[in-house]
Amino acid sequence: MSDFESVFASLANVNGWMTRDQARRLWNRAGELASGDTVVEIGSFQGRSMCVLASSAPAGVTLYAIDPHGGNDRGPQEIDGFADEAENDHQLFLANLTNAGVRERVTHLRKFSDDALGDVPGAVQLLYVDGAHRYGPASSDIRQWGAKVPTGGVMLVHDSFSSIGVTFALIATTWFSKGWVYEGRSQSMAQFRKSSSGRGGSILRQVAQLPYFAKNLVYKVLLAAKLKPVAKALGSTGEWPY
Ligand SMILES: C[S@@+](CC[C@H](N)C(=O)[O-])C[C@H]1O[C@@H](n2cnc3c(N)ncnc32)[C@H](O)[C@@H]1O
Repeated sequence: MSDFESVFASLANVNGWMTRDQARRLWNRAGELASGDTVVEIGSFQGRSMCVLASSAPAGVTLYAIDPHGGNDRGPQEIDGFADEAENDHQLFLANLTNAGVRERVTHLRKFSDDALGDVPGAVQLLYVDGAHRYGPASSDIRQWGAKVPTGGVMLVHDSFSSIGVTFALIATTWFSKGWVYEGRSQSMAQFRKSSSGRGGSILRQVAQLPYFAKNLVYKVLLAAKLKPVAKALGSTGEWPY
């Protein structure tokens, strides 16, 4: 039996982009699942977030980690040409899951997310979208994989109101959809619940996140321009926002 604090502390040396609040949200949503449910994570990198999901999910929950570890869309400003680093990510992913004691629980699909749709049978009660952050693949992940989430199920989307591609993907797929209700966020990790009531959309609550989006964009422009002191003067931590 693990607890959140010890699992999170054990991941201190595992690279990734997941804050403590985000880990807590992953932990809580996975912990609410029941035996027979399914978790899918799109974009696993070195396993930081999957270690949390798999440590929290009750016995009998099936977990899939989808990541081609192919060197594309690896992280902020790492869109293409990182094949060697990604092979290393793959080895570290396996080692980190083993160290966390969850390797046997997780099925790794070393594929692009749109090629893996047929590998996961049935419904996905918890979907975590953190793969390619460009508009095309992000919107296709939300649409195609989101369609597998049943009423009452949860979709978490990382880099919401932070990455331009992901934010426009959310506008296109959730703002006017009656199927998704926006329930809040932990920094850039937004939570949506599948609704059957037709009261989805939640446009106003998502529009209210736009000042946070604008702030993140300003920080990113300044950091990319190597103007860290200016970004910090405006309230940035000096790190790439996520
Ligand atoms: C931001 S990282 C994921 C971080 C991870 N969730 C964590 O918290 O440590 C993005 C990952 O998405 C993967 N990726 C890129 N394109 C993908 C795609 N089309 N389908 C699935 N994964 C993809 C990359 O290989 C990379 O490891």
